[in-house]
Amino acid sequence: MTTQSDALADPLDIMGRLLAPAGKQNPYPLYEEMRAHGSLVDVASGTHVFATGYAECSRALREPDLLSTDGAVQDLKLPGWREHSSWRWLTRNMLFSNDPTHERQRRFFGSAFSARAVAGRRAMIERLSDEAVRHVAQLGRDGAEIDLVPELTYRFATAVIGELLGVPPKDQAPMRAGIGDITLALDPIADMSQLEPGDAAMDTFAEYFYELVAQRRAEPREDLTSTWVKVCDDSGDISEEELVANLMLFLVAAAEAPMDLFSNTVRLALEHPEHAERLRADPAYAAGFVDETLRYEPAVHALNRVAAKDMEFFGLKITEGTAVTLMLGAGNRDPQRYPDPAAFDPQRTDIQPLTFSAGAHYCLGANVARMSAETMVPQLLREIPRLKLTEEAVWRDQLVQRGQARMLATTV
Ligand code: HEM
Repeated sequence: MTTQSDALADPLDIMGRLLAPAGKQNPYPLYEEMRAHGSLVDVASGTHVFATGYAECSRALREPDLLSTDGAVQDLKLPGWREHSSWRWLTRNMLFSNDPTHERQRRFFGSAFSARAVAGRRAMIERLSDEAVRHVAQLGRDGAEIDLVPELTYRFATAVIGELLGVPPKDQAPMRAGIGDITLALDPIADMSQLEPGDAAMDTFAEYFYELVAQRRAEPREDLTSTWVKVCDDSGDISEEELVANLMLFLVAAAEAPMDLFSNTVRLALEHPEHAERLRADPAYAAGFVDETLRYEPAVHALNRVAAKDMEFFGLKITEGTAVTLMLGAGNRDPQRYPDPAAFDPQRTDIQPLTFSAGAHYCLGANVARMSAETMVPQLLREIPRLKLTEEAVWRDQLVQRGQARMLATTV
């Protein structure tokens, strides 16, 4: 007799297909195959658990005994990582640290991104959004096809973080490939040589930011790097190496995921003309639209944690050292949390996407990213009413930070 569970594919097989190129182009059916095994799936005899449920992901992110991938965790998971500057630098930033280091670094950098501080950046974001939209209108005015990823969404994301950190516009476009290579180091790897592009990019950026720090120490300006160098030197609360590691985190985190959020928001608006019309007419409509985009087509699909001790989690016994992968892309479409989860519906109430994480590592730039998307997308739709995408979505071969590789469009 065949029971339902006999008919299900093995979770490791599902994982293998998810990490293959076709799976990364469309992971959602595979998330449903994984969910059929449960909200928590033990894929490797108690050494690796996948969370597909919204409640499970949400609680795991708030659980202090589920650790982020710091150096000690990485020693267990990826022997040899210390030979690679991508991970050497990543484990010096707040995202890949645990307390007390995480708490100390987050306190140092956090106030620059409070709701109040970000509200004070609105005029800057509006100005940069205006510039980015005008740039697209200008490029496309003769009917030429444009790639909106470099020309709009990457450009706008890096204009914002560039101005905040003091990275001048001329340096922003050339950083795109390196930023992409660093985010690739976050995907599961089959062999260590896959880290090499990220290593090279990290070395280049480290040199760049050491130089920027030296310049701002000598001649401070109105940017966060100048503020942080001074506090770093005066207080000694963080080392210069930690400052550089986190400047690189800010650059990468505020470029790649926002670029993907903006690209996804633009595509979903253009694919749903009735919503595009409302976005043009009513700026307040953008908040729910952006939240639903974050839920339905997240820029971050998975996060990793490791159990610091034996624990019971939603009835499952998890032993110390167990890897727990939180499948945010699956959790965001959990039918127990959202009715009709595979439908894109910006008018849902109570949208709380997992995409910015939660708990101690909750994204420090969430307010900046939201405000940027809510400003730029309606402005784009208003200023370029004939904007039209000329091909279906093409996704990068990447799962953890998933986004469109390009987005060809015409404007007239
Ligand atoms: C759509 C845009 C964005 C998404 C989806 C996103 C997503 C995330 C996620 C999932 C985390 C936590 C990962 C974890 O819990 O392991 C995170 C952390 C972080 N993000 Fe974002 N992010 C975005 C934009 C930004 C921006 C614009 C900035 C900076 C201005 C930023 C800076 C950070 C920082 C510094 C952290 C580390 C926080 C900590 O470890 O305490 N992010 N982000």
